Amino acid sequence: MNYRQIIIFDTTLRDGEQAPGCSMNSVEKLDVARRLEKLGVDVIEAGFPASSQGDLESVKAIAGIIKESAVAALCRSLKNDIDAAKEALAGAAAPRVHIFLATSPVHMEYKLKMTQDEVLEQAVWAVAYAKQFCSDVEFSAEDAFRSDPGFVCRIFSETIKAGALTVNFPDTVGYAMPGEFGERIRYVKEHTEGVERAKLSVHCHNDLGLAVANSLAAIQNGADQVECTINGIGERAGNASLEEIVMSLRVRRDRFGVDTRINTSQIYSMSRLVSQVTGVKVQPNKAIVGENAFAHEAGIHQHGIMANSETYEIMTPESVGISKNQMVLGKHSGRHAFEDRLNLLGFTVDRELLEKIFAEFKTLADKKKTVNDRDIEALMLGAAPSVPETWTLDHWAVNTGSALGASGTIRLLHKDGRREKIVALGDGPIDSIFKAINQIIGREPELELYEIGAITGGSSAQGETMVKIAWDDRRYNGRGVSTDIIESSIKAYLAAINAMEWEAAAGTASPKHE
Ligand code: KIV
Ligand code: ZN
Repeated sequence: MNYRQIIIFDTTLRDGEQAPGCSMNSVEKLDVARRLEKLGVDVIEAGFPASSQGDLESVKAIAGIIKESAVAALCRSLKNDIDAAKEALAGAAAPRVHIFLATSPVHMEYKLKMTQDEVLEQAVWAVAYAKQFCSDVEFSAEDAFRSDPGFVCRIFSETIKAGALTVNFPDTVGYAMPGEFGERIRYVKEHTEGVERAKLSVHCHNDLGLAVANSLAAIQNGADQVECTINGIGERAGNASLEEIVMSLRVRRDRFGVDTRINTSQIYSMSRLVSQVTGVKVQPNKAIVGENAFAHEAGIHQHGIMANSETYEIMTPESVGISKNQMVLGKHSGRHAFEDRLNLLGFTVDRELLEKIFAEFKTLADKKKTVNDRDIEALMLGAAPSVPETWTLDHWAVNTGSALGASGTIRLLHKDGRREKIVALGDGPIDSIFKAINQIIGREPELELYEIGAITGGSSAQGETMVKIAWDDRRYNGRGVSTDIIESSIKAYLAAINAMEWEAAAGTASPKHE
């Protein structure tokens, strides 16, 4: 059967990354982009090049490596922004310039201070300007849902005439209800002159928890493209979640009669990667990718599932890349079994990295009887530092107790070969050791988040620490894993420090747009 194909436009690296607490460094963005390509998304929105030199460089780097997906760059309807997108996309196999301008009364009057006619003229000019160097141009009418529908149709027909191949209808503030959103999309489809020459897209925010429902209603009413993010990350309550849209379309193909190019078996590992690099945890009951999405606790459910999984499961965990019948790995497991498991989890590694992680796996297996997928994932994500390390941990010790304060000793190795050792006092072991690190590096970044949890159960479980630090208006994430929670904290803090040092050395530390 030939199903209508829905275009999946992923904006995890732009709208997602723009959200507070979701920042990624350029190496992490490259990693995410490669995995989005493997997932099969049609368009990767890689960033907003005019917002900072760092964003421009990372869009450029992504454009240079992605071959199977189009790479989009966001711009306001301004010459400078479009020129920055042109520079960033120069090496892309399939570049897309994504231009936006607000069309709602409140945005036009208070933000833009422009009339409808001025907005129309600016949008048409911007599309025509971009079209001179990029054939694939998308125009978004920001806050379209709260705009006059007639005006949106007019601006869409004029931008299509100017060369836009996609026109996007965002519910920027997540205000729409599914029924009316679907009706509005139908209206736009029926009243936009020339719409048959372009793709109609939607971009829904989740302020009332309806972003996915609204996107699905739009598809039922003729939308060709949906804009979404992994795990639904994004501004405020987030964007529509890619995994929920894709699996709704797949599981209820009987109702939607459409398909996507997404390789759904990559969904779970993609979700884990985004959660790891942003440090934003996925809620346990999140549809499709939450820890409990396929867990059956109640006895009556377990009984049903054992008799026939369809009693309580509308899709299999395997269909989204969660392998249920996991063979537990232990200290006797060989390289092959280990590599197979890595591949199953979505990681491909070269020989050198395999040797390194395999050695770490053996050390871990000596400490823990069994090593499960979460442990392996943690090893893998910790094994290859996301940026070159300025400082590596050489040695640490802490002394603490209820009657005394804590003292922390740390010895770090700098990339130029020198070793530095400091002892510092603090309010508890972590405070003392972080203070010692600050004294060595000669800076005191603000610790915005410190979170520690066990990856698996049991007292020999690995501890996973997430740290976010702020320095000079920029935020850096770090993650550390160890069976010792103080060591995992040190690793996380150093990872964030190294991201900060690396960005300072690369000279890309310019403030991001708000
Ligand atoms: O939410 C929004 O309106 C946007 C546009 C820039 C597409 O993110
Ligand atoms: Zn948005």
